[in-house]
Amino acid sequence: MKTAVYRRATFNAAHRLYNPRWDAATNNHIFGLCNNPNYHGHNYTLVVKVTGDIDAETGYVMDLKILNNLIKELVIEPFDHNNLNLDVPEFKSLNPTAENIAKVIYEKLRVHLDNKYEIQIRLYETDNNFVEYPV
Ligand code: NI
Repeated sequence: MKTAVYRRATFNAAHRLYNPRWDAATNNHIFGLCNNPNYHGHNYTLVVKVTGDIDAETGYVMDLKILNNLIKELVIEPFDHNNLNLDVPEFKSLNPTAENIAKVIYEKLRVHLDNKYEIQIRLYETDNNFVEYPV
């Protein structure tokens, strides 16, 4: 049987949702307030789930200090108090929706974690809106 461990982290960041291939009216229709050209911010809550076997020697699935350090280095430092569209290269041409942010976080963490682990990202954009990747 596999066991899941979780690490939670928070960051705040600004973004603007828009599709450069659409005119302003279409962007306003689809994205509404999130299309504000002057950007807006969210307090994001990230939950990283790591699933694996309990190691017989340590009793851990993985050392959460290591996971915490990876989250800090790969997600919090580049994203926190930044403008995702302007400051984070991954979103130069990728709309920074919660879905795409979760996918980018997954891809950044995946390459640093042993393949014996399954990982899943849950990202809360508000208390009530959150996404999971992958499912
Ligand atoms: Ni937003």
